[in-house]
Order: sequence, then structure tokens, then C-alpha cells
Amino acid sequence: MELLKPSTLLLVILSLTMNSMGSTHGPNKGGYWPSWSNDFPPSAIDTTLFTHVYYAFLAPNNTTFKFEIDSHTAVLLKNFTTTLHEKTTPVKTMFSVGGGSFGSKTFSRMALDHNSRKSFILSSVEVARKFDFDGVDLDWEFPQNPIDMVNFGHLLHEWRVAVKKEAKSTSKPQLLLSAATYFKPEITLDNVYRKYPVKSINKNLDWINAMCYDYHGSWDLSATGTLAALFDPHSNVSTSYGLQSWIKAKIHPEKLVMGLPLYGRTWKLKDPTLYGIGAPAIDVGPGIEGSMPYVEVQEFNAQNNAKVVFDDATISYYSVAGTSWIGYDDVRSVKLKIEYARLLKIGGYFFWAVDGDQEWKISRQASETWIN
Ligand SMILES: *[C@@H]1O[C@H](CO)[C@@H](O)[C@H](O)[C@H]1NC(C)=O
Ligand SMILES: *[C@@H]1O[C@H](CO)[C@@H](O)[C@H](O)[C@H]1NC(C)=O
Ligand SMILES: *[C@@H]1O[C@H](CO)[C@@H](O)[C@H](O)[C@H]1NC(C)=O
Ligand SMILES: *[C@@H]1O[C@H](CO)[C@@H](O)[C@H](O)[C@H]1NC(C)=O
Repeated sequence: MELLKPSTLLLVILSLTMNSMGSTHGPNKGGYWPSWSNDFPPSAIDTTLFTHVYYAFLAPNNTTFKFEIDSHTAVLLKNFTTTLHEKTTPVKTMFSVGGGSFGSKTFSRMALDHNSRKSFILSSVEVARKFDFDGVDLDWEFPQNPIDMVNFGHLLHEWRVAVKKEAKSTSKPQLLLSAATYFKPEITLDNVYRKYPVKSINKNLDWINAMCYDYHGSWDLSATGTLAALFDPHSNVSTSYGLQSWIKAKIHPEKLVMGLPLYGRTWKLKDPTLYGIGAPAIDVGPGIEGSMPYVEVQEFNAQNNAKVVFDDATISYYSVAGTSWIGYDDVRSVKLKIEYARLLKIGGYFFWAVDGDQEWKISRQASETWIN
């Protein structure tokens, strides 16, 4: 038998160690922190329940694609990372770029050519280091067509090359890279079909946050609907379908992170006696534009003596008071979703958004369910 050279042996040991690290590293428990949540500073976050917290959001300049951080934002960013790193149980901090209301067009233009991608990438790395973030999260909602999806793949590749190079030259840990995505890998919106570049995602991102929510909402006021059903007996718009589709598309399961809502979506019923899922509706219900943080859903239910229903066909909750109808997740539906996620052996879960929970009821349930 040929003797292993010491250097080879070292490599073998190293790769064994890395493998075992890979298989034993814990679940990804994320939460987005909306930087506009006035009554909920980063210090209020119970970091024992999370592994990663995202600052939502930063947006690059729409022509230079570089971040321009004003002095007010600079204070917030520094406070965010310092506070969360100094907790007794520290978490990793990410800043999330874009978001639902930022739109898609700026990203489309940025991703279109090598030079604009490079400006964006270098600026993102600079911001991350300057304010002491552990990584960057891309929240492009959503790539609009097949060309965007190809460019999305190029962007991830060049981003990974850049953070590897930067880590090497500074001897710092490599920045983490993640992206918030549609709940499934294939998108057909406005009659345009496109599919995420799963190979590039596997190779270049540490994980994706699949936004498994907003299945129904104020964009369809004709009937009530579930916000984030685990199952839907009548359609493929569900968390189980989304997660399974990602796995069928061959994402590495440990890179798949399931989204959970800490808010509800509301409707005004046409007839208070017809109140099931899919009942006729005429308008949004209570809350802001038909949306309400979980903590306020709880208050609303108590104050209005609402009828609360757990729907076991969809694994979701709704509450009814008069003509007000609210669909949401609660402790039990989240527990069942986490159990489902564990069966699929995916990487973890995240919440939109951390300020919506009531005394960490749901976040604690999620965290404990993942362990047991
Ligand atoms: C983006 O950058 C350009 C060039 O520096 C500048 O003229 C423009 O005002 C910036 N846009 C915004 C919205 O700040
Ligand atoms: C960039 O943002 C500015 C300020 O919001 C806006 O007026 C301008 O139309 C935008 N440019 C492009 C190319 O989208
Ligand atoms: C963060 O900001 C809060 C509120 O302004 C302040 O009380 C706290 O001391 C700051 N923490 C750090 C680490 O800067
Ligand atoms: C759900 O998706 C499957 C394939 O992924 C398809 O065969 C089926 O027709 C879809 N069902 C509905 C209701 O769209």
C-alpha cells in the first residue's frame, strides 16, 4: 500500500472535518427586521430564537448601482450589527437588498452587463465590511423574464468570485450570500414564464429564502384566501408544492429555507354567514391595505371576540368577526409546517418579519419544534 504523503493526509483530515461540519451545522433560523419599525429596535430581538437576522432593506442607486448610505442610515446599520453581535447569543447579520416595493427594473438593468454587476458587487462588499455585516441577501422581486434569470445566474457567479477573493486578500471569513426568491423555482406572472438558475444558486449562494407566503391577498378581493397554506386541495399554490418543486428542480435541500409569515391578510366578507376559505368578499378587511401583523391579529381577535378556525385541509388559520376575515399562521400551523420541513430535510426557515410576533410565541414554537 502506498503511503499517503503528509500533505495528502492533512487534506483528507481537513475534508473529513469539513464534511462533518457540513452535516452537523444547525438549522438556518432567520428573521427580517424592517428598518422602519419604530417601536421595535434591534435590541428587542430575542436572538436565542434565530441564527440570522436581516436588515430590510437597502437599495442601490438606480444608475450607478452603488449604495449611497446617508448619515442617518449609517447610524442604523452600525447599531444593528453591533447590537446583534454583542448579544449573549449573537446572530449573523445580513443586509437585504431591494424588497417587494423596490421593484424589479433596477435589478434587471444592473444584472444586464458585466460592468454594472461589478459596480453593484464591489459596493455591496464595501458596505458589508464597513458596517460589519456577515453577508448580503438579494431580494429581487422578481426577475421578469428568462434573460433576467440568466443574468441572475451570472450575478451570483461573479458575486461569489468577488467575496472569495476579498476574503483571501483580507483574511476575513467569506461574506455569506443569500437570496429571497419566489415560493417555487418556476414563475409565470404576466404570462411570462421563467425559471431560476438552480445550478448557479447551488454553486454560488449559501442558501435561498423561499417566500412561501402571499398566495392570496388584496390583489384579489373577490374571495377570501389563505396567505401561506401548507396544502391546497384545489391548486398548486401552497408551501408544500413550492418546497417540493425546488427539490425536484434539484436545489441542494440544505440550501432551501422556508418562509413563514408573522402577519395576516384580511378581507371584508360579502355575507357574514358565508365565511370559509374562498368565501365571497368585496373589499380588504381591517389593517393597512388588507395586511396586519400577527400581534395585531391576536389583539383584533380578542377585542372583537372573533371566531377562530384552524383549517386542517390547508394547515392555516382564519378568524371571523362580522364581515371581517383574517387569514394567518399561528403556533399550531407553524409547528406542522416545521415538521413538514424537517421531513424534507431542508435547511431551515425564516420569518417576515420579526416585529410581528407576540411575545415570541410563534418564533419560540418554531425553534423548539426544529430541535425536538
Ligand atoms: C444616482 O447617482 C447619480 C450619479 O452619481 C446621481 O446623479 C443621482 O442623483 C443618483 N440618484 C439618486 C436617486 O440618488
Ligand atoms: C431613478 O430614480 C430617480 C429618482 O427616484 C427617478 O426619477 C428616475 O426616473 C430613475 N431612473 C431610472 C432609469 O429608473
Ligand atoms: C443603538 O440605538 C439605541 C437606540 O437609539 C441605543 O439605546 C443603543 O445604545 C445603541 N446601541 C449601540 C450598540 O450603538
Ligand atoms: C399542479 O402541478 C402539476 C405538475 O407539477 C400538474 O400536473 C397539475 O396539473 C397542477 N395542478 C393544478 C391544479 O394546476
